[in-house]
Amino acid sequence: MLYDSFGRIHNYLRISVTDQCNFRCTYCMPEEEYACAGKDELMSASEITQIATEFVKLGVNKIRLTGGEPMLRKDFSEILDNLSQLPVELTITTNGVLVDKYLYLLKKSNIKTVNVSIDSLNETEFEKLTGRNMFQRVWKNIQLLLENQFEVKLNVVAMKGHVELELENFISLTRDYPVEVRFIEFMPFTGNHWESDKVITAYELIELAKLNHDVKPLETPAHATAKKYQIDNNQGRIAFISTMSSHFCSDCNRMRLTASGKIKNCLFGQDEIDILSAIRNNLPIDLLIKESVTRKHKALGGQFSQDYKEIKAEAIINSSMIAIGG
Ligand code: 5AD
Ligand code: SF4
Repeated sequence: MLYDSFGRIHNYLRISVTDQCNFRCTYCMPEEEYACAGKDELMSASEITQIATEFVKLGVNKIRLTGGEPMLRKDFSEILDNLSQLPVELTITTNGVLVDKYLYLLKKSNIKTVNVSIDSLNETEFEKLTGRNMFQRVWKNIQLLLENQFEVKLNVVAMKGHVELELENFISLTRDYPVEVRFIEFMPFTGNHWESDKVITAYELIELAKLNHDVKPLETPAHATAKKYQIDNNQGRIAFISTMSSHFCSDCNRMRLTASGKIKNCLFGQDEIDILSAIRNNLPIDLLIKESVTRKHKALGGQFSQDYKEIKAEAIINSSMIAIGG
């Protein structure tokens, strides 16, 4: 089992399988030209399996595939097939564009829950935010997942000035479909033009929702980042990931592996340990994994102030979100 120096168990690994994406979400992709990792810098399918197996030996029992857009990997089927042999709960975060292509594979791999990023329910706004005219396609694929009995979570990055205008539409979605709509507070990463004024907090959104609805907190399972709420008697629910206004670091159980095979012990951490190079040099990686967990800071990668209004975007030392994996 992996415990950090604050006694937190680490049993959840998020693997970014690629830093490429077919979308251009402004809050994720740096505007400046971003050079994706070359093919040799990325973990191969068999290296991903090898590394994941080592994490499982150390107690990991949940793995999420992220990116970039994970389904863009040419060998996505192989990656999923391999990981589905491990004794873990396997999940995925996707922008939804290629879900129809891989639906059968997702089922076969025993994936139960799929997180789809969808920041707007309005076609024009969706294109503005993602840089792609793909709303209809993503929406159809969300329906497809629901028809096929997947549990669907929709990720909405809450940007002030945008999300308030669509809050009611997202809430209506929970009336019509059994989905969890999760509002994620806008987080700062290198190159994403973060400003504290662009953050709208979970509290502010809940207060807005309460103007028209009955909003009741639901029980939050251990290690969950999202606080869940029942809205009226709707079949779906809403949830908030309040990273900026009220972090949940004290209960954190997650580690990340970047597409180029570096462990990050925190989304906001500066520390990265290159385990892919170790694997390629036939060196053991268990001690490197343990070292990364031991070095983990108490909260927010040790570099953010608790008050998000004091964060200066220029002072952040980190990678862009697309490089880390969401
Ligand atoms: N702030 C909040 N959420 C973000 N995501 C990507 N960048 C940011 C950001 N700056 C979200 C994506 C995806 C999830 C993995 O992370 O929308 O749904
Ligand atoms: Fe792609 Fe997701 Fe980043 Fe958007 S947020 S650019 S869909 S990886």
